[in-house]
Amino acid sequence: MEEKALLRALRRQHVDRPPFWFMRQAGRYMPEYRAVRADAGGFLDLCFNVEKAVEVTKQPLRAFGMDAAILFSDILVVPLGLGQKVWFEEGEGPRLEPIRSVDDLEAYDRSAMIQRLSPIFDVVTRLSNDLEQDFKGTALIGFAGAPWTVATYMVEGRSSRNYETVKQWAYGDPKSFGRLMDRLVEATIDYLSAQIEAGAEVVQLFDSWAGTLDEAHQERWSFAPMAEIAQSLKQRYPHVPIIAFARQVGTNTVKLAKMGCFDALSLDHTVGLDFAREQLQPHVCLQGNLDPLMVVTGGDAMLGAAEQILEAWSDGPMIFNLSHGLIPPTPVAHVDLLSRRLRRA
Ligand code: CP3
Repeated sequence: MEEKALLRALRRQHVDRPPFWFMRQAGRYMPEYRAVRADAGGFLDLCFNVEKAVEVTKQPLRAFGMDAAILFSDILVVPLGLGQKVWFEEGEGPRLEPIRSVDDLEAYDRSAMIQRLSPIFDVVTRLSNDLEQDFKGTALIGFAGAPWTVATYMVEGRSSRNYETVKQWAYGDPKSFGRLMDRLVEATIDYLSAQIEAGAEVVQLFDSWAGTLDEAHQERWSFAPMAEIAQSLKQRYPHVPIIAFARQVGTNTVKLAKMGCFDALSLDHTVGLDFAREQLQPHVCLQGNLDPLMVVTGGDAMLGAAEQILEAWSDGPMIFNLSHGLIPPTPVAHVDLLSRRLRRA
C-alpha cells in the first residue's frame, strides 16, 4: 500500500502535491469545537475526556481534509504528569504552581506519570483506529513541548513577558537548571514513547519560546535537549519521523537542520523562503510557514502568500503549514478556501 503523503514527504519521497495541516487546527475558531468545549467543562477536562478529545481532533479533518491529524492535547500535561499543579483560568490561560528547584517536584516515577496521563494514550489509540476506518490517507501526529518551553511555564507559573525567573535560573545557575532539563528530557522521551506505542506515526516537539534565548543558550537549552529526545526516540523507533519547531531562532536554525536527528523543521514566518530552500531543505523536510494572520486576512493576500511558499519549496520535501497556531478570530471560510487550494493536486 502507498504510504500516507505526510509520511512520504517526511521520508523525502515523491508526493503528488505537498501535504498540509495547520497548527491548532482544532480550536475555538470552529463553532463545532466551541460546542464540545462548552459541554466538557474546562480545557483540561476536554483533553482528558477520551470521547470528546477524539471528536475535536477529527473535526478539522471532516471540515477541511488535512493530511494529518494532531492529537488534541496540550504541552502542559507533562508538568501535570510530573505531579505539578496545572490549571487553566477561563479567558486567561495556563496557571501552574511555580517551581524554583527540581526538588519542588516529586521524585521521577515513570509509571506514575504514564498512569496519570493514560487517557491521552487512549485518545491516541482511538484516533489511530478511527483514522484507519474513516480518514485513510491521514497521518496521526503526536506531540510534546520541548523542555525549554515547558520549563518556562513550570518556573514562571504562566505565560510570561520577560521570562525573568526562568532565564535568571538558566543563565545564573546552569548546573541546577540542567537537573530540571534532564528531568524533562527523560519525561518527554517516556511520554512520546507511550504516544508512539499507542499509534502516533509522527511526533513534533514544540519549542515556542526558543527565540527568547540568546544564540549560545538556544543551542544549550533548546537544541541540545530536543536532540537528546530525538536521538533516544530514533533508537527505539527508527521509522517514526520527528519534527522540531524552534520558533524565532533565525539563522541559528541551520544548526538544528544539520543535527541529523530531525526529519523536518517547522519554520516560523521570519525565516526567509529562499534561505530555507537553500540552507535547510538539503538537510530536512520543511514545514511552514504562513503567518496565521494571513488566514485571518483571507482572500488574495492569503492565497498569494501561500503560493509563494509553494513556489519556493515544492521542488523539495515540504509540508504546508502555518508559522504558529490558528487564532480564535480566524474565519472558517478562510481556512476552507486555503484548504481547497492546498488539496488541488
Ligand atoms: O494543534 C492542535 O490542534 C493540537 C492541539 C494543541 C493545543 N496546544 C491545544 C490548545 C497543541 C499542539 C498545543 C501546544 C501548546 N500549548 C503550545 C506550543 C505551540 C504554541 O502554540 O506555541 C503552547 C505554548 C501551549 C500552552 C498553552 N495552551 C497556552 C499558552 C494556552 C492558552 C492560550 C490560548 O490559546 O488559549 C493553551 C490553551 C490551548 N491549547 C487551547 C487549545 C485548543 C485553547 C483552550 C480553550 O479551548 O480554551
